[in-house]
Amino acid sequence: TTEPEIRKGLAGVVVDYTAISKVNPETNSLLYRGYPVQELAASCSFEEVAYLLWNGELPNAEQLAAFAADERSQRSLDDAVKRVIDELPLTAHPMDVVRTAVSVIGALDPTWADASPEGNLTKSVSLFAKLPAIVAYDQRRRRGLDLVEPDAELGYSANFLAMTFGEVPSKVVVDAFDVSMILYAEHSFNASTFTARVVTSTLADLYSAVVAAIGALKGPLHGGANEAVMHIFDEIGSADRAEEWLDAALAEKRKIMGFGHRVYKNGDSRVPTMKAALDTLIVEYDAPELGELYTALDDAMQNRKAIKPNLDYPSGPAYRLIGFDTEMFTPLFVASRVTGWTAHIMEQLASNALIRPLSLYNGVPERHLE
Ligand code: CMC
Repeated sequence: TTEPEIRKGLAGVVVDYTAISKVNPETNSLLYRGYPVQELAASCSFEEVAYLLWNGELPNAEQLAAFAADERSQRSLDDAVKRVIDELPLTAHPMDVVRTAVSVIGALDPTWADASPEGNLTKSVSLFAKLPAIVAYDQRRRRGLDLVEPDAELGYSANFLAMTFGEVPSKVVVDAFDVSMILYAEHSFNASTFTARVVTSTLADLYSAVVAAIGALKGPLHGGANEAVMHIFDEIGSADRAEEWLDAALAEKRKIMGFGHRVYKNGDSRVPTMKAALDTLIVEYDAPELGELYTALDDAMQNRKAIKPNLDYPSGPAYRLIGFDTEMFTPLFVASRVTGWTAHIMEQLASNALIRPLSLYNGVPERHLE
């Protein structure tokens, strides 16, 4: 008998259909429900994109108004959630705080077991509405500041930033943040989304799947990279040191965070849009040295390795300029990707099969007790 082929990391393995997004590395494109993500980022709000991911179509004016009203009415955190967050030490990574808070929200929801499409959509909108409050509250408590209540007059991104920083920043900043949320929202069967689908395939509830997905996103090979990019920038310090730093890092066989991608080998389709948003922030905050460092490290990487940057490369510096602590970057990714995760959870349930692959045993041969 021939040995079955093993594909480490499931690289190149197609495991199911999805109608939510299409990643095409040949044409360097990413479509959400058929629309190029660049067009959505240019013309739509994150709320509209969330609606699109869940419902398959963009909302008309009436649908958007109803959806926005629903989201805005659910932004507050239950006291029990706040109390649990308060109990967590500041040594906990913000991803652990988000993971725990979502778990608590699930445990508090008496309808947790309702896995009907309507029930799961209701839970998805609720998490979408509450994640900004969780992230903002954690960022503020780390700075010794009190919670800012949500403002139902504001759109998603303006409210998110106001809850974090105590005031609505300029339109340039709100728009750049909104673009980052749109770009992070969905990316087919990445590790965290696949995790959510695996959990869902056992018919566990939506909250369990989202908690597991948050765990998968935390790692530096996935969502944790946006935070890791900023640690690299801090290590390098300034543009003139980028080449020397890179040579030393590559000599130590270090992976350079924010570069490379499992699917895109000729560049990440989302990077030009996010880089343009970062450029507006560099002007807004008068931070040309950050732009110079960005370019210097990218150029050096292209000379040495020809490995292209991924979305985390421009989004990390963007979140730094907006004012978030580095450790909050991956929770921002959660706030966005919860839309894609939950769309996939609902899609998985609509035609479920338990996800249970096989392995090839290579341990000690059969043996027996004396
Ligand atoms: N720095 C240095 N070398 C790299 C990098 C990198 N960032 N990425 C790939 N390579 C090398 C790798 O060492 C390998 O070389 P060799 O063939 O000599 O062993 C070759 O390129 C092929 O890479 P691979 O590891 O087989 O590729 P993969 O598809 O398994 O890995 C990756 C993809 C994203 C895990 C990897 O590129 C990486 O570790 N990047 C850094 C972390 C990162 O930025 N992650 C974010 C991913 S995208 C958005 C997100 O999920 O947040």
